[in-house]
Amino acid sequence: MKSLDVVMPAKGMDLIEEQISARLPLHRLWLEPNPDLWLAEWAPRIRAIAMTGGHAPLDEAYMRQYPKLEIISSFGVGYDNIDAKAAARLGVTVTNTPGVLDDEVADTTLGLMIMTVRQLPQSERYLREGQWTANGAFPLSPSLRGRTVGILGLGRIGKAIATRVNAFGLDVVYHGRHAQADVPYRYYSSLIDMAKASDVLIVVAPGGPGTRHIINAEVLQALGPDGVLINVARGSLVDEKALIEALRNKTILAAGLDVFENEPSVPQELIALENTVLLPHVGSASVKTRRAMAECVVSNLFAWADGKPPLTPVPETPWRGRWGKGG
Ligand code: 8YV
Repeated sequence: MKSLDVVMPAKGMDLIEEQISARLPLHRLWLEPNPDLWLAEWAPRIRAIAMTGGHAPLDEAYMRQYPKLEIISSFGVGYDNIDAKAAARLGVTVTNTPGVLDDEVADTTLGLMIMTVRQLPQSERYLREGQWTANGAFPLSPSLRGRTVGILGLGRIGKAIATRVNAFGLDVVYHGRHAQADVPYRYYSSLIDMAKASDVLIVVAPGGPGTRHIINAEVLQALGPDGVLINVARGSLVDEKALIEALRNKTILAAGLDVFENEPSVPQELIALENTVLLPHVGSASVKTRRAMAECVVSNLFAWADGKPPLTPVPETPWRGRWGKGG
């Protein structure tokens, strides 16, 4: 294995630090008392960035700080915070962690959907507050039975969600840029039409400028007064102001959200509403799955240091040989 100076901008899982530092020179930027001084001295040597989670923007100017940068190994399947097109222009490879979190995120999504529709967190609070003994049974909730579930973004995670939803005896429909030949679910080319046909709308498409506020007032109106919105993708896909209005006015029934526009800050209006279930971005956050994601971050860097192709490059920066010449 050749030497490859790696910088970690922020603290993440210990496993990532331990494994990289055992084999490669690792620079922990967050420990530097004067990052500017450190950059002046070390930036010309850095060839790899190891990301550790969070969604801080990583734009072209940031990449240009490191003139010898070759690879950004990102933690997470979504990489909307990284300007991958700029990386491609600069000849920098970006990798993410697909595959290893599909089932975990799908499990979380089903949990969130059931919690939201059946009002399980509200009923749990009711018990803890002593209201069961004081006021009798918790009010009857809406039901999942007979609902059609619309999935926005039938990628790997979307498919894992669809399989589970189907096993619950519910119909699945989907919307995305293209119909997929090999799936048994009905495709809607129009998001509005799918929202009209759905009683639960699950958002699991990638973030970024192309999907920003794709869930707007009009889509929520189409989802309707019995409709439930579940978002496990990125907060940026949902116009949060429009959602708060729709929840307040009962334009839709309820929302279950694992992601927000400005994490970790969550609008007080959402917290105050009774028809929301809010999670702190825990879709993939189990010890087992986060470990698998961390290992994927490290394996991409080790492959690179060995002169091998990256394991999971993002589509914008496909492997074309180490120096862009093929092979
Ligand atoms: C990550 C996620 O754990 O994979 C993603 O895209 O959102 C999460 O699973 C998150 O990026 C960590 O900060």
